[in-house]
Amino acid sequence: MKKFLKVASIVLVIAMLACFASCGGNGDEKEKLIMATNAAFPPYEYKEGDKIVGIDAEIAEAIAKELGMELEIIDTEFGSIVGGVQSGKYDIGMAGMTVTEDRLKSVNFSTSYAKGVQSVIVLEDSKYTSYEDFYTGYDKDGNPNGVIDDLKIGVQQDTTGDIYASDKPEKWGFGEDSVIRYKTGADAVQALIAGKVDCVIIDNEPAKSFVEANEGLKILKTSYVEEDYAIAIAKEDTELLEKINAALEKLTDDGTIPGIIEKYIPAK
Ligand code: ARG
Repeated sequence: MKKFLKVASIVLVIAMLACFASCGGNGDEKEKLIMATNAAFPPYEYKEGDKIVGIDAEIAEAIAKELGMELEIIDTEFGSIVGGVQSGKYDIGMAGMTVTEDRLKSVNFSTSYAKGVQSVIVLEDSKYTSYEDFYTGYDKDGNPNGVIDDLKIGVQQDTTGDIYASDKPEKWGFGEDSVIRYKTGADAVQALIAGKVDCVIIDNEPAKSFVEANEGLKILKTSYVEEDYAIAIAKEDTELLEKINAALEKLTDDGTIPGIIEKYIPAK
């Protein structure tokens, strides 16, 4: 009898475990919200030990809570986020990501929750005092028509900094030949410190974070246009888009999102 009870209880435990694993939606198990990011972009996303923290991580956490979902953050290459969202590998892409015409062909974007503008980081003792120093002359319309010899601009691959810098001088870029692409913004900054590039073009808040975290760097202002950061969502997933927009509105109105941004970017 004793033995029978033992066997019966083991069978019961196994059955319960199997149910926990497969009976999604029942009990306490929450649906997952899988977010792709590129966690070398402080203060929006960066690693503290093994944990991904930052403005995007905290806003995503608040959104997941609002939707009754469980957030999972996946760190990947920035350039693979839009494709991964489009194919359904990730539910959302959140990476200080700028809304661009080109990306809008592949994914939808939520309402914007933050803004950015490209900055130029140089070494503190750099001979360059303005990014205009990188041009050799201007045409009759006032647009640049040449770039200094051997100019090396470091960017994070596939970002708007990369896209602008790679454009023709006539469009205020520096030409493909001047651009060296790195996997992360942090790698580009290390290359600058090592003297491999003359400057790094990257969004203003990460630029400030990198300058604060590393000795001997400074920022040059640019006149690039302001960019809107938003959450990328698959085109078919209009239901999730609506839910996320509603959550963003609520979390903005109740002060949650302004509070998260203020925590990482204190108003001076
Ligand atoms: N805002 C820029 C863009 O969308 C750079 C974003 C880079 N983000 C990151 N997590 N590395 O292209």
